[in-house]
Amino acid sequence: MKKVLFLFLFLFIACGSQESVELTTGKEIYTARCSACHLDDFSGRVGPSLKMSNVLDKPDSYWLQTILKGKGSMPAVRITEEQAQLVIDYIRDSN
Ligand code: HEC
Repeated sequence: MKKVLFLFLFLFIACGSQESVELTTGKEIYTARCSACHLDDFSGRVGPSLKMSNVLDKPDSYWLQTILKGKGSMPAVRITEEQAQLVIDYIRDSN
C-alpha cells in the first residue's frame, strides 16, 4: 500500500514539474497562464483587452510588473521573468 502511495506522489511531482518545463514559447505560456482571463485573441474577458494601444504602448517594465506582481484584481502570475518577457514579445508580435 505504501508503495502505491509513493508511486502516486512521484507521478504527481513528475507531472507538476513537467508543466513548467514545457512552457517554453510565448504562445504556450500565454495559453496556459493568460488566455483564461484575456482570451486567445487578446480581446479580454475577466481581464481587459490586451490589443488596445493604450496597453500595448506601455513599456515592458510596466508589463513585467503587472504580470509578476499582479495589478488590481489581476493576481500575480507565477512564471519566471524570462517567461514573462516571452509572453510580452508574443503579445506584441501578434498585435
Ligand atoms: C485571473 C485572471 C487573469 C490572469 C490569469 C491574467 N490576467 Fe492580466 N488582468 C486581469 C485583470 C482583472 C486585469 C485588470 C487589473 C486592474 O487594473 O484592476 C488585468 C490587467 C492586465 C494588464 C494591464 C492592462 C492595463 O491597462 O494596465 C496586462 C498588461 C495584463 N493583464 C497582462 C496579462 C498577461 C500577459 C497575463 C499572463 C502572463 C495575464 N495578464 C494573466 C486578469 C488576469
